[in-house]
Amino acid sequence: MDDAVQPDLHIIPLNQFHNHKRFKSGGEQFQPLKTFLQQDALLFQDGCIAQTYVVIDDNQRVNKEDESNSFPYKILGYITLTCSQVTLSDYDLGDCARAERYEYLPAVKIARLAVDARIQKLGIGAMLFGHALSMSMDDIRPLVGCRFLITDAKRDAIDFYHKQGMELLDTQENQEAEHPIMFIDLFTLLSD
Ligand SMILES: CC(C)(COP(=O)(O)OP(=O)(O)OC[C@H]1O[C@@H](n2cnc3c(N)ncnc32)[C@H](O)[C@@H]1OP(=O)(O)O)[C@@H](O)C(=O)NCCC(=O)NCCS
Repeated sequence: MDDAVQPDLHIIPLNQFHNHKRFKSGGEQFQPLKTFLQQDALLFQDGCIAQTYVVIDDNQRVNKEDESNSFPYKILGYITLTCSQVTLSDYDLGDCARAERYEYLPAVKIARLAVDARIQKLGIGAMLFGHALSMSMDDIRPLVGCRFLITDAKRDAIDFYHKQGMELLDTQENQEAEHPIMFIDLFTLLSD
């Protein structure tokens, strides 16, 4: 991002023109997040396995006559979503207790989330999370039924997800897992 100009950030679906080459995922432990973006994200998207959204700064497109759909925006951060299901043992479904007989409940899963290491802690991660949450809540849930937004959190990201309103699945096995399940119950966000 250019320090002198306020960025004009947008979240858009990943396409083949986006520039992922300069994306820095940070330490070695985050390299798989870069590899996924560079090698798998478009393939998974084309194969209907997972959909990736990227944050771009539209101020990079200085000439506004340039076509935005094919502009080589630098990727500042990305989130990958996929359909999923979750087992939440002993979780109270409240008004919908009859659904507790099912082992699995419907969920949207955050399969990947990363912000370029040079611009973390500037709100881009929260922006991407908010995009996933509003899409799950406002688009997917009313159309097909979806109760949870979930992720398998990296331990270093647990506090970040807590701040976004997610909670840890409260089992000992999960608390001790390398990538514990975190979730947000979309039902609890519905207003009367
Ligand atoms: C985790 C990650 C996506 C967060 O993105 P970000 O753009 O740095 O986060 P934001 O600036 O939007 O932070 C939102 C809030 O969470 C806090 N936060 C961000 N990362 C945090 C972390 N690792 N631990 C604790 N709090 C964190 C911020 O301080 C901010 O708090 P505030 O609302 O009180 O100001 C980013 O740090 C990242 O890409 N990490 C490496 C990859 C990773 O761990 N991905 C998660 C995969 S499960």
